[in-house]
Amino acid sequence: MMSVKNLSLGKSKVSTGRPMRLIWMSALLAAAMLLLLPSIFKLDGNTHADWQQFLGRFHPSVVHLPIGLILLLPVLEIAGRFRPALLEAAAFVLSLSLLSCVLALTLGYLLAYGGGEGGAGVARHMWGGIALTIGVGSCALVRSASGGLRGVYPWLLGSVLVLLAWTAHQGGSLTHGDRYLTEYLPQPFKRLIGGGAVQAKTFAYPESFYAKHIYPVFDANCITCHGEGKVKGHLRLDSYDRLMRGGVDGAVVIPAHPERSTLFNRITLPPADKKFMPSEGRPALKPEEIAWIKAWIAQGASPELKTLTGIYLPQDEPLPQVGDYSGKMAAIAQAAKAAGVTLVPVSRNLGDGLILNTVDAGAKFGDAQLVSLEPFAPYIVEAELGRTAVTDASLGSLAKFTHLRAIHLEGTAITGNGLAQLAQLQQLKYLNLSGTQVTAAAVAPLTSFKGHLYLYNTPARPIPAAHDGQPTARKEP
Ligand code: HEC
Repeated sequence: MMSVKNLSLGKSKVSTGRPMRLIWMSALLAAAMLLLLPSIFKLDGNTHADWQQFLGRFHPSVVHLPIGLILLLPVLEIAGRFRPALLEAAAFVLSLSLLSCVLALTLGYLLAYGGGEGGAGVARHMWGGIALTIGVGSCALVRSASGGLRGVYPWLLGSVLVLLAWTAHQGGSLTHGDRYLTEYLPQPFKRLIGGGAVQAKTFAYPESFYAKHIYPVFDANCITCHGEGKVKGHLRLDSYDRLMRGGVDGAVVIPAHPERSTLFNRITLPPADKKFMPSEGRPALKPEEIAWIKAWIAQGASPELKTLTGIYLPQDEPLPQVGDYSGKMAAIAQAAKAAGVTLVPVSRNLGDGLILNTVDAGAKFGDAQLVSLEPFAPYIVEAELGRTAVTDASLGSLAKFTHLRAIHLEGTAITGNGLAQLAQLQQLKYLNLSGTQVTAAAVAPLTSFKGHLYLYNTPARPIPAAHDGQPTARKEP
């Protein structure tokens, strides 16, 4: 490193007495100002002047300048050992690095300050940028210094490079989320760095309407700006407590008063309004999501309430899977052929089960044929037996098809004798007995049945009182 020292640019100019002291003084002053910046212009969560945001938005592109220049430094310093002219270039690049750091830091600060940013992620990135600028400045000073101090330079430059990587990563996490880099990392490496396991969000009341329907809306639409990394408007929406704590202007949810809740007002403004959320031209929430949020606030914004009056939600639990029958395919095909029916997979996923389709068999399909399919009963999720020759004798047989979700018995000779056995079918959601001879008395044992029950054109019509008014029992005209 001796030759480096002797050749370093500008050394002779600044190493003498007064000017040198002056330079150090002003450097210290500049560093102190940088360190004080966050306490002078506090990131208070409020947005500020438009020009600040306008300039600030150049930050994400301008940052690449210091990154490139700083990375070039070690290359020039090392190559300079063989080609001394490059050492001069290194000094020049170092000055440029410092200038570009100051520029990027200024723009970054304008972006955060102007845009009402805050939060741990923004703070980490900001302090990284400040430390980096001071680090690069120190490099410039030390490199041009004389004596022992000069020997510190390689170490300082090394630390600056590490800091650069860290700060850049913090910045990247703000724009892309902190799993961006590791998302597609092969599993073994993920385990190695310990960042692979995606933490499932935990709730105090996992079955609540909040956990199942309100939080997911915020998660998908708001948390990039109102989460741990970024906290715009001082508002975090990534937990119930933080949501209720509110933002810069206090509470954003007033239980029982959606119309007085800032949050509800913000999502229902015209999308062109400056205050509309989600901001920055992102698509508005869906009408049903807005309706859920409104009803949830109106009914007390509770963290534990499971259902809301007036809100209908489709069953969103995944359908139960049937067992693995891949080893029995041949036997299933054979049995289906013998019975004159087809057993059609619901989807490519075998676990979704099979549909028993009898259109080709028609009246040739009767009780005996259904019995012949019993060995495969657990794999069949729908039985289309409409207009076949099955009778009440088949009701006992159907009770063994434990995974049935839908049974069509319309237009059959069923009278309902033994219908009670179908009450055992836990997953049954649809039972069509239209056009059969079932009576009200025969249907009565199915009171606990929670699915759609069709009784059009039967002696049982009108539907017995037990089913009247149930949202699940359909009345036909
Ligand atoms: C692109 C970033 C961004 C997204 C996405 C976003 N917000 Fe905001 N939000 C902001 C900024 C910036 C502020 C502060 C400036 C302001 O009040 O308009 C803010 C402020 C708010 C406030 C006011 C806080 C207070 O106390 O004044 C509410 C309420 C709010 N957002 C709700 C939401 C909701 C709900 C969503 C999702 C549907 C959302 N935001 C999505 C950027 C965003």
